[in-house]
Amino acid sequence: MPGPLTALPLPAFAARTASVGGSPIRDILSLTDRPEVVSFAGGYPAPGLFDTAGLRAAFDATLGDPASAARALQYSTTEGVPELRAAIAARATARGLETTADQVCVTTGSQQALSLLAGALLDPGDVVLVENPTYLAALQGFGLAGARVVPVPCDEDGILPDALEEIVRRERPKLLYTIPTFQNPTGRTLPGARRAAVAEIAGRLGLWLVEDDPYGELRYEGSHEPWLAAHPGAEDRTALLGSFSKVMAPGLRLGWLRAPAALLRAAVVAKQAADLHTSTVNQLAAARYLASVDLDAHVATVREAYRVRRDALLAGLSEALPPGSRWNRPEGGMFAWVRLPAGYDATARLTSAVAHDVAYVPGAPFYTGTPDHRTLRLSFVTHTPSEITEGLRRLGRALR
Ligand SMILES: Cc1ncc(COP(=O)(O)O)c(C=O)c1O
Repeated sequence: MPGPLTALPLPAFAARTASVGGSPIRDILSLTDRPEVVSFAGGYPAPGLFDTAGLRAAFDATLGDPASAARALQYSTTEGVPELRAAIAARATARGLETTADQVCVTTGSQQALSLLAGALLDPGDVVLVENPTYLAALQGFGLAGARVVPVPCDEDGILPDALEEIVRRERPKLLYTIPTFQNPTGRTLPGARRAAVAEIAGRLGLWLVEDDPYGELRYEGSHEPWLAAHPGAEDRTALLGSFSKVMAPGLRLGWLRAPAALLRAAVVAKQAADLHTSTVNQLAAARYLASVDLDAHVATVREAYRVRRDALLAGLSEALPPGSRWNRPEGGMFAWVRLPAGYDATARLTSAVAHDVAYVPGAPFYTGTPDHRTLRLSFVTHTPSEITEGLRRLGRALR
């Protein structure tokens, strides 16, 4: 006869979930989802600039006849639909990196490519090098893979190649994760000579490069810097990540990974396990869109609007920020990076900002190791110039 039922405790969550954890800032920022708040926090593209009509037409055409609808609503291959892979390869080639469709895998946002690469390359305890500060969700992805994340010293132009070489020799990392162009969170761009040096070090010292480039097409001034992937030394060891989120719409969740054949194969196996494939209908609609609309002309419109917004932000910062603050002038992308004067803590001040109906992201969570609590990230693309000016007025009151 069975004895009395005593419930045993449920098994624990995986240890890595505890080490990665959520962010307390998310809780504060969840209070900013009110229409009256001017948010410099999220990296949200301006919704008014989405080409809704063009995308609707592309979806209509994709679902418009029975044969095409049957294909669009069906399962498809893990690597992505051929016409979108071909279009991505053609765009990469036009940007200076010879690419064929079979070098590309379509991913569910470029975020997924980060998880796939972590799955394909990292064993627990492996060392991953990152810029400091860097993109938070990449840190989370590497943390979930059990990697040990080590920061590479940077200055206002990004990675310092001599410091990189020294750390590679000391730590024997598997990969360097970098956002060389209009970095998140700092907005900074790695100059050409340093790109060449990073590629050369990777080639000589045996290192994978993960080059994350969701912002590169949003340049407002200065000249185009070729991808790291195009530099001697890097060609056979760079995983390049691109995204349609900032130039088309993030809700489509369409990104891509271009990688050397063996690494791409491993990433495709990881993708099968993750989601079988990226949404067929979204891929086919995007391919139709690219075939019928001049995306570059659309991006030029977005760029012009964002440049004006960046200028509105830069024009108001000296008035809004306390004396002694410093900030950069990003040549593109979505973010400016601020350092408040001594004695200021950007995380502690966020509550006051939110009470004044303005929000930003404190810089601290983007750091590996010791954070700089005086830093914060301002996204300038979501709001109109007049809203930005009003937001800066509120920020000035909150920081006073
Ligand atoms: C540096 C970086 N990488 C990747 C992503 C993910 O972009 P998505 O998955 O929308 O392509 C973002 C999003 O903000 C980002 O800033």
